[in-house]
Amino acid sequence: MYLDSALAGVAALLTTTTVATQYVAQTSAAKVSGKVFDRMAVIWLENTNYDKAAGDPSLQYLAKKGITLSSYYGVTHPSEPNYVAAIGGDYFGMNNDDHNNVPKNISSIVDLLEAKGISWASYQEDMPYTGYQDTEYDNPRTGANMYVRKHNPCVIYDSVATQPSRLNLIKNLTLFQNDLKANALPQWMFITPNMTSDGHDSSVTTAGTWTRNFVEPLLSNSNFMNKTLVLITFDENHDYTQPNKVLGILLGDVIPSSLVGTTDSTFYDHYSEISTVEANWGLDTLGRFDVGANVFKFVADVVGEKVRSWGSTSGSVALSNMYFNQSYAGPFNSKYKNGGWAVPNVDAEYAGRTVLQKIKDAWSSASGNKIYTTNLEIPDGQHPPKGFEPK
Ligand SMILES: *[C@@H]1O[C@H](CO)[C@@H](O)[C@H](O)[C@H]1NC(C)=O
Ligand SMILES: *[C@@H]1O[C@H](CO)[C@@H](O)[C@H](O)[C@H]1NC(C)=O
Ligand SMILES: *[C@@H]1O[C@H](CO)[C@@H](O)[C@H](O)[C@H]1NC(C)=O
Ligand SMILES: *[C@@H]1O[C@H](CO)[C@@H](O)[C@H](O)[C@H]1NC(C)=O
Ligand SMILES: *[C@@H]1O[C@H](CO)[C@@H](O)[C@H](O)[C@H]1NC(C)=O
Repeated sequence: MYLDSALAGVAALLTTTTVATQYVAQTSAAKVSGKVFDRMAVIWLENTNYDKAAGDPSLQYLAKKGITLSSYYGVTHPSEPNYVAAIGGDYFGMNNDDHNNVPKNISSIVDLLEAKGISWASYQEDMPYTGYQDTEYDNPRTGANMYVRKHNPCVIYDSVATQPSRLNLIKNLTLFQNDLKANALPQWMFITPNMTSDGHDSSVTTAGTWTRNFVEPLLSNSNFMNKTLVLITFDENHDYTQPNKVLGILLGDVIPSSLVGTTDSTFYDHYSEISTVEANWGLDTLGRFDVGANVFKFVADVVGEKVRSWGSTSGSVALSNMYFNQSYAGPFNSKYKNGGWAVPNVDAEYAGRTVLQKIKDAWSSASGNKIYTTNLEIPDGQHPPKGFEPK
């Protein structure tokens, strides 16, 4: 513990210069205009059933200022595979919270954003210093869980963590406040509160209060709110025997006033977080489950894209039979490792979006299981993709 914090201090000193340089880089970078938003901030809370989250007064307060997503699903259990899915378009069979490393040849939203010159960062409350890569960092005074790597999706991808310029963009919330003051916030950001603030080791009341306290001042801060979309959601529900439905709230000055206080019951899952960003900035895709995911409807309406209902593909399993409560097999599964690294669908084209050239180059001649389509419906452990049966 003591050694940890001493090391953190040293590393913090070492990173001061690079962080200061980053401000210059980010403020001087041209902003890339999106069709609907110029900035998106994604905030993830932890382990709460839909009804419980929707009943929290602080989250209700925020929901009244935006759009409630009432049919939004986590993709499996436990936490980490959901975070991994939300930026990479699959969880590769993961059914654990281990110190997993996604191989370097697997791309994420970071590659899609950087290809178009869109700035990004990950802000992790109480991560001791920029680019920290350990499994966790406990509160040095109390020993309580504080920062955990399993909730920091960018650092889990070797395609991010092994590149110093990218690692330098994985920061803590102190630096979020600095970047805010310096009007140097990036255009896409993933924000993870600590293990108390996100409800993991506390309650939905604590998570809701933290979120309202964090978000409310931002709603009227022009360094943040300038054609900005905020998504507040949860990684997974709490009761594994129930369908994995979580609350989603969309906020920001880009929400049309006619939609403020409304509910959108379109089917979404964590892959919608990627497809919405792709649709907004005209990005390429990862060729994985991002391709078929619904774009948030108010964005889809502007870009001229249709949202689909679960079950619109013939032969698909009814949504009422999908619990998304168990992972299919794959390299990260603790028990069922069959299936290998699924190969991106390099020929996938949906809503005018095609796969990132770098991904085509890396994977077009790869042999392996091809499981990704342009369909909305995604698999789970009870309805696994071919080759990834848990057996
Ligand atoms: C956040 O990161 C900076 C830069 O590495 C470090 O100096 C600071 O101590 C960290 N803050 C917290 C609360 O850990
Ligand atoms: C998490 O952050 C909050 C402030 O946002 C703080 O009150 C709490 O003590 C932190 N949790 C731990 C375990 O340190
Ligand atoms: C808001 O965005 C516009 C367009 O990118 C920019 O000109 C303006 O400076 C921004 N406002 C703030 C406070 O950053
Ligand atoms: C997932 O849900 C199904 C259907 O209710 C149930 O049979 C199964 O036991 C659940 N799995 C877990 C891990 O809870
Ligand atoms: C991607 O990396 C994994 C892990 O190193 C390796 O097994 C796989 O063969 C690679 N696939 C391609 C297409 O390069």
